Amino acid sequence: MKALTVIPHQAGSAQLSEVDESPISDGPLLVETLAVGICGTDIEILSGAYGWAPPGRERLILGHESIGRVLEAPAGGAFSPGDLVVGIVRRPDPVPCGNCAVLEWDFCRNGLYTERGIKEHDGYLSERYRITPDFAVKVDPALSTLGVLLEPTSVVAKAWEDVERIGGRASWSPTTALITGAGPIGLLAALIGVQRGLDVHVLDQMSDGVKPDLVRSLGATYHSGSVTGSGLCPDIIIECTGVSSLVLDAMTNIGNGGVVCLTGVSSGGHTIQVDEGALNRSMVLQNVAVVGSVNANRRHYEKAAQVLAAADRDWLAKLVSRRVPLEKWHEALQRQPDDVKVVVEVGAGE
Ligand code: BGC
Repeated sequence: MKALTVIPHQAGSAQLSEVDESPISDGPLLVETLAVGICGTDIEILSGAYGWAPPGRERLILGHESIGRVLEAPAGGAFSPGDLVVGIVRRPDPVPCGNCAVLEWDFCRNGLYTERGIKEHDGYLSERYRITPDFAVKVDPALSTLGVLLEPTSVVAKAWEDVERIGGRASWSPTTALITGAGPIGLLAALIGVQRGLDVHVLDQMSDGVKPDLVRSLGATYHSGSVTGSGLCPDIIIECTGVSSLVLDAMTNIGNGGVVCLTGVSSGGHTIQVDEGALNRSMVLQNVAVVGSVNANRRHYEKAAQVLAAADRDWLAKLVSRRVPLEKWHEALQRQPDDVKVVVEVGAGE
């Protein structure tokens, strides 16, 4: 079968390869891949900056944001042929650490976890893959291939859970949330904020185009420019860019007792000037909490499935701004001005 493979840490090594079918040892569910989303992590892997091949192998099958259809499933189990499923990305470490032992692999403590399509475990960007039922999540059939948004939604569902848990250390009734970044992660974070009844603001660079439109049609407020310039003093900031200046602005513009959740991954190598004393002073005197958040466990995928099922289908459809057939995979990597989420179509969707 065909699969998009890459030699991690070798820029320009991606190719459409002919690979063996997944071994039965990968799991009893055989899934036909319908579509796979491309995100910043994939771009990093393709540029040679991130990613690890499975042990003893040179190439890694890419792809961690999947939607597929079950072809084979054990009789009497939770899945049946025809079900739409998303594969969970992370697998617990083999030791396992205290968190992986209780299936909170998103908090793996020893770093020995694996991630499909990213770290030592083949991804989902192949025509078919096998998986065990405990790492597959069922998707509302009405969502069809929009289920490809489930994995990025799981990441922000976890971020929101972190915010709620930390905010709940005191009497907590947040009203305003600011999301920095109007990419897929920022927009999906905004979707959850709106579903929670919050006054949601989204900040990004452009003053018009598809992203401001998507924010407004969600019922949220769009801002371009700086966090300070927005005049907001939110209870919650979910930072979705990893841009150093925005990370710092988030930490200095959060309201008293507020929570800043960092979900964007900075590339490193940027130095900005910080008055550490002033930052320390405001964080302490205002009980500010800053938390980093990555990945998602099964609970977050299930929450994400509810979020997507409750979302406006037309809005979600606009988020998937470009679909590229597998044979033209390289077109998915060339950014276009109105791109939000670009997906590679592998199988027949409808
Ligand atoms: C994925 C996460 C993963 C992280 C780091 C993100 O793009 O969505 O599941 O943990 O990259 O590898």
